[in-house]
Amino acid sequence: MTTDEFDIFLATAPGLEAMLCAEVRGKGFKQPKGVPGGVVTRGGWPEVWRANLWLRGAGRVLARIDAFHVTHLAQLDARARRVPWDSVLRPDVPFRVEAACASSRIYHSGAAAERVATAIRETLGAPQSEEDAILVRVRIEDDHCTISVDTSGEPLHKRGYKQAVNAAPMRETMAALFLQQCGYDGREPMLDPMCGSGTFVIEAAEIAARLNPGRARAFAFERLATFDAETWARMRGVRREPLPPQGCHGSDRDAGAVAMSMANAERAGVAEITAFRQAAISDATPPGDRPGLVIVNPPYGNRLGDGAALLPLYQAFGNVMTRRFAGWRVGIIASDARLAQATGLPFLPTTPPVPHGGLRVTLYQTGPLA
Ligand SMILES: C[S@@+](CC[C@H](N)C(=O)[O-])C[C@H]1O[C@@H](n2cnc3c(N)ncnc32)[C@H](O)[C@@H]1O
Repeated sequence: MTTDEFDIFLATAPGLEAMLCAEVRGKGFKQPKGVPGGVVTRGGWPEVWRANLWLRGAGRVLARIDAFHVTHLAQLDARARRVPWDSVLRPDVPFRVEAACASSRIYHSGAAAERVATAIRETLGAPQSEEDAILVRVRIEDDHCTISVDTSGEPLHKRGYKQAVNAAPMRETMAALFLQQCGYDGREPMLDPMCGSGTFVIEAAEIAARLNPGRARAFAFERLATFDAETWARMRGVRREPLPPQGCHGSDRDAGAVAMSMANAERAGVAEITAFRQAAISDATPPGDRPGLVIVNPPYGNRLGDGAALLPLYQAFGNVMTRRFAGWRVGIIASDARLAQATGLPFLPTTPPVPHGGLRVTLYQTGPLA
């Protein structure tokens, strides 16, 4: 790569771009701009590593290594051979190529991928493989081709600690953005009274302990030609002072979920500032004197007829909040507006729904309850 700075694309679920943009700006990255499906910022390789290490909301980090105008496959073939592959990829590390075409004269994504893969094989000599490979992404839109390298590898919601998962877990990336949207910054108590495998509670505890989300995992960028192990070790070794603990609490009526949450919190290194107990929603009580945030994703009910069956659960949740949680703010993630309304809680205006596990979910949030 010839320049020191390039576009860095931070992918997220559609609907969460503005939230991710706020996080990226807050963490000091340059000129972040929300675009469909993500956020674009500028930087060099240290910013790429930092984005992977620091950002809670990004699903993956792509480094744009080239961009050019292209109208036919022979031209793509020739141009792809002039990409300085050896300054980014390593000849001993397998790679694979994925292409997508839209509104362009080159419309066959398979053929486009094949041309770029051949160029890499023949100019760099790297092996092409589907297994354990660096992903090169080719996007041709309006006859403009961009070539990016996926620097994350495994998607970033895989923080590296969650072995135990129950049904319908929330992705860590999405949970972190919903916490941020609810104004959670680690300086107040929080409770998830239907905590499942503990995703919200553990994300919140990590924010409070000021732990980097990527501290415990490997990244694809460690196998690129641009990697500098010493700088990375220094970057990863920086520890920030934890905030004074306020308590991150989870409960669930299911004993298995509680055990899972505890095991996940232990592996994430936040067992000391989290507390989990087995309790039905009707038994939920504020975990201390100071109000804070209740955040929850109750069962969604994705089959026809589930909605009516779940109504009592949402009503019970709303009752408990109204009766016992004065001063607390509530965030509830639901796929069905009628179920959310059944809580009877005074919701603020909502932001657009977000795709999640084949559904579209919305964050309903309140101000401090009266
Ligand atoms: C969609 S899951 C939550 C997933 C969780 N956010 C995660 O990321 O793993 C809903 C949870 O609500 C719990 N639940 C259902 N009914 C409940 C009730 N009446 N009281 C407490 N928990 C309940 C279930 O056991 C389940 O773990």
